[in-house]
Amino acid sequence: MIYLSELRLQNFRSHVDKVVRFKDKVNVIVGQNGVGKTNLLEAIYYFSLGTSFRTAVRKNLVNFHADDFSIMEVVNMNDKKISGSVTFSDKKSDTLPLKVIAFSPESTNIIDGDPKIRRNFIDAIILQYDVKYRKILMELNHTTKQRATLFKGNDLAMIEHWDEKYATLSENITLKRQKLILSVNKHIDKIYKSIAGQAQTLQVDLVTTPSNVEIKEIVRELENTREKERILGWTNVGAKGDDIVFILNGEPAKCTGSYGEKWSLMISFVLAVWEILNEKGSKFENIEPLLLLDDAFTGLDAKRRQKLVKLIQGVNQTIITTANVQDIPKMCYNRIKL
Ligand SMILES: Nc1ncnc2c1ncn2[C@@H]1O[C@H](COP(=O)(O)OP(=O)(O)OP(=O)(O)O)[C@@H](O)[C@H]1O
Ligand SMILES: [Mg+2]
Repeated sequence: MIYLSELRLQNFRSHVDKVVRFKDKVNVIVGQNGVGKTNLLEAIYYFSLGTSFRTAVRKNLVNFHADDFSIMEVVNMNDKKISGSVTFSDKKSDTLPLKVIAFSPESTNIIDGDPKIRRNFIDAIILQYDVKYRKILMELNHTTKQRATLFKGNDLAMIEHWDEKYATLSENITLKRQKLILSVNKHIDKIYKSIAGQAQTLQVDLVTTPSNVEIKEIVRELENTREKERILGWTNVGAKGDDIVFILNGEPAKCTGSYGEKWSLMISFVLAVWEILNEKGSKFENIEPLLLLDDAFTGLDAKRRQKLVKLIQGVNQTIITTANVQDIPKMCYNRIKL
């Protein structure tokens, strides 16, 4: 059993010096618009992952009038208290074994945005249970830059060497992504049905180029598209071209999903991930992630809100934010006023 019991923020976004205490199970942070609720969740997310779910610019997280921030956490692990801290300047993250997964209203942009946003989203999940994954992603970025330099300089003497390297890393990454999506699909339809109704269906597809992601197939595809890549300056072959498609009632949600449907879809995805990360004895570590739900109830109708409450009651620890406490259906929770 692991849960976050205390968070202290100094100069993180609008929080100059703030201490918040949490309980196990469901916590609801209540406060007016702009009071800093999402900033709190962002800090918890940053502590574990070293990135934000709202911005790619780390500097934005530092208070306007300061040069550095500090996030301190106390985590209860099997009744022992352990603490750790991260700052903006030391760039470290993951000093404690606390994992997180998050839904925020911005999550729905994942469905409609660039493929890169979707890749980053699933990579952030894999990074939490696969310790080797960060290094492989970094190597892929390095290899991509090397290949781009060759194309720019019109010097393709070494291209086969770098194609082989790119293909090897791509195969490794895509197989890990496929494994995650396969597991998500074992849960997501059931979860979506329980929120949206039994007649609804949801499935997630990982689309890859080529469809067979073996190294030799990727190398062949890179060769076939080399001229195109030279002209465009980028390739969608291999891991840099992987994309995720959410299939809602048989159609891609990107084109046809309503606002509330996309909202429910992303919550279902997050809950499916929560379930697989908790599976005991599964190929995923049993890491009991902390579930962060930023404003999650706002975009749902009354019926869907009730269903969501049922789903999160079994969760290890959840932190929910809301500006309107009446949006949260009746349930047992620790209320935190901001
Ligand atoms: N780097 C920063 N330094 C100081 N203040 C910041 C910084 N970044 C954002 N803010 C402030 O934080 C506030 C927004 O906080 P946050 O998004 O957490 O609000 P919220 O409580 O989630 O509101 P809502 O209910 O509207 O979602 C804004 O007033 C914004 O100006
Ligand atoms: Mg907010």
